[in-house]
Amino acid sequence: MQSPPEGAVAGRALRRVLYTKEDIAARVAEMGREITLAYPEEEELLVLGLLKGSFIFLADLVREIARPIHVDFLVAASYGTGTVSSGEVRLVYDPEVDVAGKHVLLVEDIIDSGRTIDRLVPLLRGRGPRSLELCALLHKRIARSAVLEARWVGFEPPPEFLIGYGLDHSENYRNLPFIASL
Ligand code: IMP
Ligand code: MG
Repeated sequence: MQSPPEGAVAGRALRRVLYTKEDIAARVAEMGREITLAYPEEEELLVLGLLKGSFIFLADLVREIARPIHVDFLVAASYGTGTVSSGEVRLVYDPEVDVAGKHVLLVEDIIDSGRTIDRLVPLLRGRGPRSLELCALLHKRIARSAVLEARWVGFEPPPEFLIGYGLDHSENYRNLPFIASL
């Protein structure tokens, strides 16, 4: 097992490391190769990262995609009282990039209940992309999305709360190079 960088964890106990830095790098490279093969060379691909959680994954993934791409981001927030999500999702940052006629690849860090995706996909589809696919580093397989299944999934973790490699717990731990459960 990889030992976490002491300073980043600040003394808090991690339960276990599920995916090491090396596991992630190998899987992200594979996903990049698969995505490359799925899109025609001459057509432009818009990679849309869902912030904040996807920022590290997206940065690594785009460097494994051997196609001309554009990159943009969306920020979604779910409402809720306290820690309970109400299932309402709204966009707090939306560059309103012109997705019309483009191949759009939506990149998520983790799919849990699937609510975020169920809310965002119809919104993006309404803008008339040429194609819309979903890529998620992690999929807990708790709920099946009614609107769009992820075409590319990195790992299927057990239903534990995960941190690291972009994933946070109250904004902490995003900088850990591996993925662990708390
Ligand atoms: P969903 O809408 O329930 O699918 O949740 C998706 C979002 O919840 C993700 O983009 C994450 O920001 C967050 N999330 C879900 N599970 C975890 C987890 O295990 N660790 C950290 N964030 C999570
Ligand atoms: Mg989050």
